Amino acid sequence: MGDLANHIEEAKAIPYSDIPNFPVSTVAGHKGNLVFGKLGGKQVVVMQGRFHFYEGYGMKEVTFPVRVMKALGVKTLILSNAAGGVNPEFSVGDIMLIEDHVNLFPENPLRGPNDERLGTRFPDMSEAYSKRLRNLAKDIARRDGIMLREGAYLGWQGPTFETPKEYQLVRLLGCSACGMSTVPEVIVARHAQMEVFALSVITNCAIGKEIAEVSHEEVQTAAKLAQQNMTHLVTELIKEL
Ligand code: HPA
Repeated sequence: MGDLANHIEEAKAIPYSDIPNFPVSTVAGHKGNLVFGKLGGKQVVVMQGRFHFYEGYGMKEVTFPVRVMKALGVKTLILSNAAGGVNPEFSVGDIMLIEDHVNLFPENPLRGPNDERLGTRFPDMSEAYSKRLRNLAKDIARRDGIMLREGAYLGWQGPTFETPKEYQLVRLLGCSACGMSTVPEVIVARHAQMEVFALSVITNCAIGKEIAEVSHEEVQTAAKLAQQNMTHLVTELIKEL
């Protein structure tokens, strides 16, 4: 969703490197700015580039930006990711609304002493992805002729793409897509009682059809295809918040 930052009015970009304790992204094609401004008539802060566990950051670092946003007064967290689709009905370039997740990361970002000022020890995850926001997005997609898939996301650490059997496992667990991000941020956001909305771009399909070899370049090309619709959906959703 890096393109979204280009649509922000009165934008003020702050490089991550200028923010104390903020990690810096190491992946090609991921920028590193916190961009403040207005979108859809609302005050927003957009992360241009995010931090992945597979880069070697600890879970506290991966989710630090969410803590910062909470401290800044952010109430709604909107996330996006690239994901491998294992629902046989999906095609490359589809946008999937995340309705739930399965967390298979080796560590939970909330492990360790709980700071009661930030949230409760045992956070509820029964509706991690806000039903209200999902319904709003579905209404917008229907209204504006954007095809929106729906499904659960399985998050694990990567950085290897999945073996054929691992893709099968994702499907067996009732998920429609898998990837290497998002779940840690969602956990910390729910701990802080933020309302969460998330979209996956299906950049490769890995079940039902022959499992193709995946490259980072292909993932980026497919993500670009969906960018315009993603930007539209998110901007319209923000208008209605
Ligand atoms: N697996 C994990 N992460 C991904 C994939 C995938 O197939 N595609 C894009 N990100």
